[in-house]
Amino acid sequence: MHGPRMRRVEFAGKGGPEVIRIAEADVPPPGPGQVLIEVAACGVNRPDCLQREGAYPPPKGESDVPGLEVAGKVVAHDDGVAWPRAGEAVCALLGSGGYAEYALADAALCLPVPQALGVVEAAGLPEAFFTVFDNVFTRGRLVAGETFLVHGGSSGIGSTAIQLAKSAGAIVIATAGSPQKCAFCTKLGADLAIDYKTSDFVEAVKAFTAKRGVDLVLDMVGGSYLPRNISVMAIEGRLVQIGFLQSHVTEAFDFRPVMLRRLTLTGSTLRARTVEQKAAISVALREKVWPLLERGEVKPWVAATFPLAEARRAHELMESSAHCGKILLVTGR
Ligand SMILES: NC(=O)c1ccc[n+]([C@@H]2O[C@H](COP(=O)([O-])OP(=O)(O)OC[C@H]3O[C@@H](n4cnc5c(N)ncnc54)[C@H](OP(=O)(O)O)[C@@H]3O)[C@@H](O)[C@H]2O)c1
Repeated sequence: MHGPRMRRVEFAGKGGPEVIRIAEADVPPPGPGQVLIEVAACGVNRPDCLQREGAYPPPKGESDVPGLEVAGKVVAHDDGVAWPRAGEAVCALLGSGGYAEYALADAALCLPVPQALGVVEAAGLPEAFFTVFDNVFTRGRLVAGETFLVHGGSSGIGSTAIQLAKSAGAIVIATAGSPQKCAFCTKLGADLAIDYKTSDFVEAVKAFTAKRGVDLVLDMVGGSYLPRNISVMAIEGRLVQIGFLQSHVTEAFDFRPVMLRRLTLTGSTLRARTVEQKAAISVALREKVWPLLERGEVKPWVAATFPLAEARRAHELMESSAHCGKILLVTGR
């Protein structure tokens, strides 16, 4: 005997996009503190590709089904949940399980779909907005008037970082890999966009800041970027590392500037944090960032949407790096 069934995406082993399969499974019941969301759309994030390759396993207790964020309608909830209740349109940060027609979410990690957005677009909010808010403002301590450098400016993370940093009154420099991507970063508000394939970002940042450097770097590249990032950091500058698209190791380099310019090198991952830690970010987002979304001052920029059954094409697009902004999967619900 089966209860209600749903379609979901599974990985048939570790590997390239060819391991992506669509499968049937039971709709899961909400556990303590959880809600069940009928998913309208889920976000595709670079870490999903790493998970597919076997390089980013889900934390203990999380399902193997990929997907770190969804938006849709709450259809059931645990008795102890005060908000959101059945019928509410929400987006939610998940530890896994978003690539499905139904997903479980911790109620504390749900946020209302902002009025200025459709429910599909809202699926592009949680992963980037939680990550950027925590790393740029809490860990990176960016404030108005400071200069901020974000690499991968056209990525889901980068496009969010540019908008939130501008709305906080920072001067924003972005790097990206083509003239079109640089134009996208400028459209989002970047004061300077550097095509890192044709210009040395170190020279361009030094020229733009009259050699002063930047107060904060948000980096997802790693590898050879570490010493180069350090060389463009101003006195008391901070580097927040959130990814390693190039490499997590680097050649030996001169560490003296860290001491002489009193630099801070830090970083974080979101997924491994406790629900309580993520809930604290959710509370801050609702208070400080949701009003900007409600007023349409910032938004998720959607590069492409694919049906859930075409998740393979979505991963291929992400790994081609041809997109600007967020890639979403839609369920048709
Ligand atoms: N720490 C956390 O909690 C956390 C959470 C979410 C995401 N992340 C990380 O944040 C990064 C962005 O994620 P996303 O989902 O926004 O990805 P995304 O939209 O796929 O963007 C990544 C972009 O980075 C650029 N890139 C790729 N390889 C590069 C390289 N070797 N050197 C320089 N730039 C490169 C590409 O644009 P170009 O054409 O400009 O090269 C690509 O479009 C990923 O590394 C992801 O793992 C971290």
